[in-house]
Amino acid sequence: MAKAFGRRDVLRGMAAAALLGRRARADDPKSVPEQIIDTMNALFGKHPGFRSAHAKGIVCEGEFLPAASASGLSKAPHLQGNPVKVTVRFSDSTGVPDIPDGATAASPHGFAVRFHLPGGGSTDIVSNAYNGFAVATGEEFLAFLRAVAESGKDAPKPTALDKFLAAHPKALKVVTAPKPTPASFATEPYFGVNAFLFTNSAGKARYGRYQFRPEAGSKFLTTEEAARKSANFLVDELGDRLAKGPAKFRLVVQLAAEGDPVDDATAVWPDERSIVELGVLSITKRAADNDAAQRALGYDPLRLVDGIEASDDPLLELRSAVYAISRRRRK
Ligand code: HEM
Repeated sequence: MAKAFGRRDVLRGMAAAALLGRRARADDPKSVPEQIIDTMNALFGKHPGFRSAHAKGIVCEGEFLPAASASGLSKAPHLQGNPVKVTVRFSDSTGVPDIPDGATAASPHGFAVRFHLPGGGSTDIVSNAYNGFAVATGEEFLAFLRAVAESGKDAPKPTALDKFLAAHPKALKVVTAPKPTPASFATEPYFGVNAFLFTNSAGKARYGRYQFRPEAGSKFLTTEEAARKSANFLVDELGDRLAKGPAKFRLVVQLAAEGDPVDDATAVWPDERSIVELGVLSITKRAADNDAAQRALGYDPLRLVDGIEASDDPLLELRSAVYAISRRRRK
């Protein structure tokens, strides 16, 4: 039976590594992204060849067929009617490469998609299964990680994490929100969280956020069911599923209404906001040499293309810088 890998386990690892984490203090001359990676490595351990976050995953290949409505939103080349190839990676949360797929800390799962553009080049979407984020800036995220690092099992109460969450009610909401384990990587929705600016060929520009909606519907397990699953059940299930047929997602963009914050990932827009259908992603097979494929890939939320621009959300620049450091360290 898979061991439940709860927050306490993460915290235990974090506490053991708090000494390392202490190297990255506010007066540290290193950049915030560098300090974030140091703290992540301290929390999850250093695992050469693996990502500092979302370390465990599976790479697959497939195709994206844009909907007719996609070109009305953006002039981006992969949204103009013709199918393009995609390389995707599903992942478990944390920088622990052997985390059981059904562990609480493995959620929210990640879904990264690279579109191979007609005429060369590529563009990425890096999404996860939780709609919203705990904090709005890199500095706050670093403070959050450090609070976790200092709040091991034996830390005096209230812990640094208790204090951080008391001062950041939105983070408390995210940390305590249910994040159930799905029956399959293909039966949960994924959210882009950060806003982008989409411009069509007539020059009309609108802010929006990506969502991937599973064609198989949303199906989740109870905590007990998840704990009984084998450590790699999500990764294994996907292989079995694809042997029978493609796993499909509808890619949509949720449009911002007047006044919706477009620079704050903690501000989730209401469900009633208009949706533009961008098309259908069909995942058809696992990449052949999966370990090599995972190592070679480096997604970047700012790998963009004409017709899709970053919003002023500070997390976008931050994530891009952090991912680049993680990539360099895992080479
Ligand atoms: C402060 C904000 C964040 C930080 C510091 C952060 C950090 C990281 C790092 C270090 C990696 C490993 C990159 C690599 O080695 O290639 C990563 C991967 C990933 N992150 Fe984030 N992340 C943040 C926010 C987010 C958000 C908001 C989402 C979802 C919307 C997300 C989804 C993912 C996914 C899916 C991956 C795995 C990509 C892959 O499969 O290669 N992250 N993140």
